[in-house]
Amino acid sequence: MKFSPSTGALTVASLAGSALAGTYNVADNIVGNGFYNSFGFEAIADPTAGRVNYVDLATAQSLNLTYTNGNSFVIRADDTTVLTASGPGRNSVRVKSNTAYTTHAAIFGIAHMPEGCGSWPAVWETNESNWPAGGEVDIVEGVNNVAPNQATLHTSPGCTIPSSGGMLGTVVSTNCDSNANGCSIQLTEDNNSFGPGFNGVGGGWYAVERTNSAISVWFWERGSTSVPSQVSSGASSIDTSTWGTPDAYFPSTSCDISTMFDANNIIINLTFCGSWAGKAATYSASGCPSDCISYVNANPSAFTNAYFEFNAINVYT
Ligand SMILES: *[C@@H]1O[C@H](CO)[C@@H](O)[C@H](O)[C@H]1NC(C)=O
Ligand SMILES: *[C@@H]1O[C@H](CO)[C@@H](O)[C@H](O)[C@H]1NC(C)=O
Ligand SMILES: *[C@@H]1O[C@H](CO)[C@@H](O)[C@H](O)[C@H]1NC(C)=O
Ligand SMILES: *[C@@H]1O[C@H](CO)[C@@H](O)[C@H](O)[C@H]1NC(C)=O
Repeated sequence: MKFSPSTGALTVASLAGSALAGTYNVADNIVGNGFYNSFGFEAIADPTAGRVNYVDLATAQSLNLTYTNGNSFVIRADDTTVLTASGPGRNSVRVKSNTAYTTHAAIFGIAHMPEGCGSWPAVWETNESNWPAGGEVDIVEGVNNVAPNQATLHTSPGCTIPSSGGMLGTVVSTNCDSNANGCSIQLTEDNNSFGPGFNGVGGGWYAVERTNSAISVWFWERGSTSVPSQVSSGASSIDTSTWGTPDAYFPSTSCDISTMFDANNIIINLTFCGSWAGKAATYSASGCPSDCISYVNANPSAFTNAYFEFNAINVYT
C-alpha cells in the first residue's frame, strides 16, 4: 500500500486491529481436579438416540468413569458390563463447560481419544438451549475408528462456506444449515487426526479460534515439528496469526458468524451407535462386526480404550 498522509493513520489502525485479532490471554486454564470445577456432568437422554447411558458426576466417580492423575483428567465409558437388549445403554459421560464463550480461542491438549467400533466421540461447542440458532462448532468428531477427523458447523439457514481455500483440509459439504446436516471439513491431510492413529502418536493438540470473520480449527500431532511452542507449552498469551494455515477454515464470507452464533459452551461427549455411528451403511462400511447395537451390548472389552485423556484445556479471550 502506498503511503499517503490521509490514509496513513487508517493503515496503522487496521494493521494494529488485525494483529490484535489473533492475540489472546488465557481466561481458563483447566488441568487435573480443576476440570470438576469448570465442567458439569450431564446425565441426560442422548439427543442422537445412541446406545448410551450418560451418568452424573457421583456415579461416574464411583464407577471410575472419571479420574485425574496430576494435570491430566480422564472421562470414559464402561468396559466391563454386558448389556441386555431391553436395558439402558453403555454407561458413559457427557460434560459441559460452566462458562460460555463468544469470540475466543481454545487449545485442547489430548493424550488419548475414545476408540472402538460403535464409538462416536466429540469435542464441540454449542448453546444447548438455543440449537441450532445459537450455532454449533464440532472440533473433534468421528465414528467407528475411521480417520480423518471431521470439523463441522451447524447453524440456522443462511450460512454457507466456500468449497475450498485457506485450509489444509477438504470441504465435504458447504451448507452449514443444520437441516442440511451442516458444513463439514475433513482433515484429509492427516489420518492421525482421529481414532487409533491419533492414539498411536500419543495424540496432540486441537485448537479452535472463533472471531467474527472466521472459525478456524488446527491440529498438530504430538512430536510434530510444526506445533507452535505457544501451543505445546500452554503459554498464557497466544497469537493465532503465527500458527500457520488452519486445517479447517470457515470464513464469514457468506455466513454472518456474529448473528449465527451466540455464547457457546464446550461439550465433550462419548456416545455409541445413534444417528451417525449406528447408521447401518456407515457402521458396516467402517469394517466393524455384527450390527452396532448388538456389538456394543455384547462386547464390553472392546471399549477398554474408549476414553478421553486431556492434559489441559486452555481457553483464551
Ligand atoms: C455429541 O456431539 C455431537 C457433536 O459433534 C452432537 O451432534 C451429538 O448430538 C452429541 N451426541 C450426544 C449423544 O450427546
Ligand atoms: C481408575 O482407573 C485407572 C485406570 O485404569 C486406575 O489407574 C485407577 O486406579 C482406577 N481408580 C480406582 C479408584 O479404581
Ligand atoms: C488417509 O487415508 C485415506 C484412506 O485410506 C487415504 O485415501 C489418504 O490418502 C490418507 N491420507 C494421507 C494424508 O495419507
Ligand atoms: C442460550 O440460549 C438461550 C435461549 O435463547 C438464552 O436464554 C441463553 O442466554 C443462551 N446462553 C448463552 C450463554 O448465551
